[in-house]
Amino acid sequence: MPDKNLQLDGNGKLLHFLSIEGLNQPILTEILDTAESFTSITERNVKKVPILRGKTVANLFFEPSTRTRSTFELAAQRLSADILNLNVNTSATTKGESLLDTLRNLEAMQIDMFVIRHQDSGSAHFFAQHVSPGVSVLNAGDGQHEHPTQAMLDMFTIRHFKKDFSQLRVAIVGDILHSRVARSQIHALNLLNTAEVRVIAPRTLLPVETEALGVSIYNNLEDGLKDVDVIIMLRLQKERMRGALLPSEKEYFRLYGLSQERLKCAKPDAIVMHPGPANRGVEIESSVMDGSQSVILNQVSFGISVRMAIMSMIVGQSGLRGDES
Ligand code: NCD
Repeated sequence: MPDKNLQLDGNGKLLHFLSIEGLNQPILTEILDTAESFTSITERNVKKVPILRGKTVANLFFEPSTRTRSTFELAAQRLSADILNLNVNTSATTKGESLLDTLRNLEAMQIDMFVIRHQDSGSAHFFAQHVSPGVSVLNAGDGQHEHPTQAMLDMFTIRHFKKDFSQLRVAIVGDILHSRVARSQIHALNLLNTAEVRVIAPRTLLPVETEALGVSIYNNLEDGLKDVDVIIMLRLQKERMRGALLPSEKEYFRLYGLSQERLKCAKPDAIVMHPGPANRGVEIESSVMDGSQSVILNQVSFGISVRMAIMSMIVGQSGLRGDES
């Protein structure tokens, strides 16, 4: 995989945000603490601080997105940045322009920060290797590799509801094979010293290297959910499946879908998470998704503060100063 140290400078300061792999526990904790200080802004009448005033953020989404794209946009707006939303489907890339040429042209417009989602693993690192000094890249999901800001908003949600990672059993359920979210989450949970990380999936949806990630593997949902504090459900990523990895969606729900009944295997106060978009009735029953243990919409709200935190740390500001109103 690409150069991991690209994202930190010699003093350990964040330059880009490309993957959780290669980061460290103090940086992750600083992001969570900084995000905490931003939640108060998102709750007040005037939701802006001037941390990115005069800077331009370009949102470059080569794959569809609702939550990630709009919360990145709101985060940048709340930090007072100017924002360029590039609709890549109608842009020059569809006419054959290379990624590097797109980058050079955007750089000529004095962009300070790129938020990029792209179908190729490693694309965010590629961008970061080629931008001018002082320009930053944030990975909003690269192929099947990582989705680090999603993992951080998930860590924020877990800490908010459950406090101490060292006391927690966390289960990640479903299509691990195609999930950049799961990969980032596993690295983050390990860095934050989570007591136990389990992955629960059919053998066909587990990558071969899963064991090396330091997680416990379960092929049976009921066994895997026993006594867990946090359940993270993943979407079946049908668009990434080549060939038949599963019998049918109905069969998948029968074996791996989170129903009210199955939820009882976990601790009574377990929280249920999902990065979205969810397939109701495929990986999760509607009543669980909308039920009292679900924190799925909290995840979306926290996504704004967490993305604000990462952007402000990149420009050298961690938390709010007293003069910012
Ligand atoms: C995830 C993604 O795009 O990787 N969604 C998201 O960012 N909210 C997960 C998914 O698509 O299933």
